[in-house]
Amino acid sequence: MKKEEILLLLREKNGYLSGQELCEHFHVSRTAVWKAMKQLKSEGYQIESVQNKGYYLVNQETDLLSEVEIRSRLHTKWAGNQVVFKEETGSTNNDCKLLAESGAKAGLLVVADTQTGGKGRRGRVWQSPKGTAIAMSLLLRPDYIPDVASQITLVMALAMVKAIEKVTGLEPKIKWPNDIVICGKKVVGILTEMSTEPGAINHVVVGTGVNVNMDCFSDEIQSVATSLKIETGHVVSRAEIVAEAMGYFEEFNDIFERNQNLSGLKEMYNSNLVSIGKEVRVLDPNGEFSGISQGINDIGELLVTKYDGSVETIYAGEVSVRGIYGYV
Ligand code: BTN
Repeated sequence: MKKEEILLLLREKNGYLSGQELCEHFHVSRTAVWKAMKQLKSEGYQIESVQNKGYYLVNQETDLLSEVEIRSRLHTKWAGNQVVFKEETGSTNNDCKLLAESGAKAGLLVVADTQTGGKGRRGRVWQSPKGTAIAMSLLLRPDYIPDVASQITLVMALAMVKAIEKVTGLEPKIKWPNDIVICGKKVVGILTEMSTEPGAINHVVVGTGVNVNMDCFSDEIQSVATSLKIETGHVVSRAEIVAEAMGYFEEFNDIFERNQNLSGLKEMYNSNLVSIGKEVRVLDPNGEFSGISQGINDIGELLVTKYDGSVETIYAGEVSVRGIYGYV
């Protein structure tokens, strides 16, 4: 009788679940059920027990993040097959890479409540404040060649959009290639790191940071960052976002691996792209220019039509794309 299985039953019932039902379901004694409930309560779950009725999980406006919370919500075949949860760590990407080097299987998911050395793209720092953020890293061991791997970040971006949409009802958008924004402010960042052997991939770590329950941000970033709580006006379950993200990622990754490119996801990706059909400024180190964003091609490059009618193909690498009025 695992704690995540009890939580799943209690959530599904959404009412009183009798001790008898639990005993029969798990083939255990009443004392074992009582002990398990006591343990869950000590972990912060508000479980009411009423004589002759049973146990009831009070729908809490709190947000618990733990291995059990995540596992009790996962419905995946392989993504998150092993969940390593840490209250605090340096960087979940680093943890995931270390575990990969010691033989961990594809699907391992490292999640932390807070990071002390969170890494962003282009050597930047990524903040994951305690009790409010998601910092997670998923391990992949794909068969495709290293050149294809950079596209996986776009697959995760799409999965995050769908997960946030499903859990919160918000309509997040993708800022190419892989930031997720709501009302023009960033809510998700993704950093993919790869380890190769000659000509082949050893492993890929897809790291995702989500601003979930922050009430505010520091002066430096408050004009460009937001959280799901700020946008919805209520606390959002981080475990639910993690579980939904894994579900969508698994579904989209199947399509991606089958094609070994983004052709099967391009349409969905482009329809969630914040810049589609809009004017963008391309900050290319070889010369800046403006044009209209046409969305991505099959390998995730952004197509921008310049005002002379020519189409530029932009590879993510060193190039930034901005809306003409700022970050988005
Ligand atoms: C970005 O700069 O937009 C990417 C941010 C990626 C942050 C995530 S949080 C989980 C994982 N661990 C890290 O150290 N970074 C990524």
